[in-house]
Amino acid sequence: MRAIITGAGHFVPEQRLTNADLEQMVDTDDEWIMSRTGIRERRILEKNKGLSYMAAKAAQMILDESGLSADEIDVIIVATSTPDMMIPSAAALVQEKLNAANCWGFDLNAGCTGFIYALATGSQFIEAGKYRKVMVIGGDKMSSILNYGDRNTCVIFGDGAGAVLLEPSEDETLGIRDFILRMDGSGHSYLNVPAGGSLFPASYETVEKKMHCIFQDGKTVFKNAVTGMAEVSAKLLERNNLRGKDIKLLIPHQANIRIIDSVAKKLGLEPEQIMVNIQNYGNTTAGTIPLAMSEAYHKKMMFRGDRILVSAFGAGFTWGSLLLVWAMD
Ligand code: UT7
Repeated sequence: MRAIITGAGHFVPEQRLTNADLEQMVDTDDEWIMSRTGIRERRILEKNKGLSYMAAKAAQMILDESGLSADEIDVIIVATSTPDMMIPSAAALVQEKLNAANCWGFDLNAGCTGFIYALATGSQFIEAGKYRKVMVIGGDKMSSILNYGDRNTCVIFGDGAGAVLLEPSEDETLGIRDFILRMDGSGHSYLNVPAGGSLFPASYETVEKKMHCIFQDGKTVFKNAVTGMAEVSAKLLERNNLRGKDIKLLIPHQANIRIIDSVAKKLGLEPEQIMVNIQNYGNTTAGTIPLAMSEAYHKKMMFRGDRILVSAFGAGFTWGSLLLVWAMD
């Protein structure tokens, strides 16, 4: 039994934050942002809405396109670092919004690698034969944890979400084929949101010191991302007897165009084999891969039988790559 993707959806908010807008907020400029990151603009969700709003919209797109009833969903997995609140899970809030009456679900936090972890987890529920419809969602409302006075981070991130539906197939040639997932917690100090958890609960001090905002040592994360993503991707291809030319599309985490280009070069991929939409949305953390996957599908960039490689690196450190064969026309 294989887990195949039978639907893909995404959602981004209307409001755009351009490089020109950011020039008014911090000491930066369009030339620096474009040349160092590849980002032109990002989307920002309204203040009174949380991550579950975007996650539910992405999932609803799949239901609308397939005609599937929300009652048929067995499991909802939401990969995110920015749930609406600490308790309950974003998955529970998505369940309510979709009115999915017969499911259970949970959140999964693996930073930018969250969607790949969630896709691998969801595929196991299907392959075990226990569940038939698993909604895997990835998304983040990064604007809720950004310090718009810190040019090191506020130019990079944006808001957005994507989703895929996993179902079983008897066709062994399709679906999730293999994955390599890794974690190295010694990287935790290079990319984190220090406060708001049990170690530093909210206090006057944590708010004043902006400890509820994301911190990143960009250079260290950059180096580890290139090495980590390239290493697991190469290993995954090798153990499946594949070369770069056998891959129709690499759908990488959209953190920095220079990271994407370096990884693609190490794998020997041509530009037309790489899905890039970072210019439009920036880094939506757990949202980048399902958002790019849904766009690639709807733009008819991949068809049934195409080999797709996804790869990401993020907070933890976490990283991983997953190989799948696209099952939709
Ligand atoms: O998705 C989770 C994983 N995250 C990532 O993969 C992100 C990885 N890191 C990166 O993408 C890059 O490191 C950044 C885009 C964050 C930064 O690019 P960089 O080329 O590594 O720049 P840097 O941090 O080394 O900074 C170079 C210079 C510094 O100035 P000095 O010290 O050389 O005078 C920075 O202060 O650029 C300066 N700088 C900026 N200048 C204009 C930093 N941010 C900005 C900015 N505008 N927004």
